Amino acid sequence: MSSPLFAAVFAAYLLGAIPFGLLLTKALSKRDPREHGSGNIGATNAMRTGGKLVGALTLLADILKGIIPVALAIAADLSEAWIAVIASATFIGHLYPVYLRFRGGKGVATMLGVILPWQPLVAGIGILLWFVLMKLSHYVSLASILTALSLPLLIVLTDGSMPALIAGMMIATLVTLKHASNIKRLLDGSEPTTEQDRQAQP
Ligand code: G3P
Repeated sequence: MSSPLFAAVFAAYLLGAIPFGLLLTKALSKRDPREHGSGNIGATNAMRTGGKLVGALTLLADILKGIIPVALAIAADLSEAWIAVIASATFIGHLYPVYLRFRGGKGVATMLGVILPWQPLVAGIGILLWFVLMKLSHYVSLASILTALSLPLLIVLTDGSMPALIAGMMIATLVTLKHASNIKRLLDGSEPTTEQDRQAQP
């Protein structure tokens, strides 16, 4: 690996690792999302902990930090393999941030961010699918898991490259594993619905 590319991958990881959900929730609501709701630092729990605005800003920031490194890699005309490495590093940064002793988020917004500039059609279908699943099931987590699991299939159906497919499979696997506690709650009926989430907001 040449050193500028190594530096780019490392910078992508460090950007992905910035815990915007934690920073924004603490700054705007003086509460720690790790001590409320699911304990996650993602947009859903930032909303539960700090309200709609905090949730929306977290969603935006977590998407943007995924978009930026991948868009730069595409603009620099890097190969598909390098774009995949940079997308994966950014995504892994969000899940395992060095700043929080590697205890990060579940990766849904950052997954969207890294896919958007790279596979815009997949991202568009994914957003639509997530909304339909969320409206039908009334569970954010279930919509997130099923959308993540559909990612490799969407990449194949849209003629994505092999590096994109490998990154997509890794992302789908990690998002699902990170939702282990949600899956447990979905199975025992204790996962909060979107209605309960709305009512739980401060
Ligand atoms: O994006 C994360 C979402 O799918 C679940 O979040 O806080 O309910 O575990 P949470």
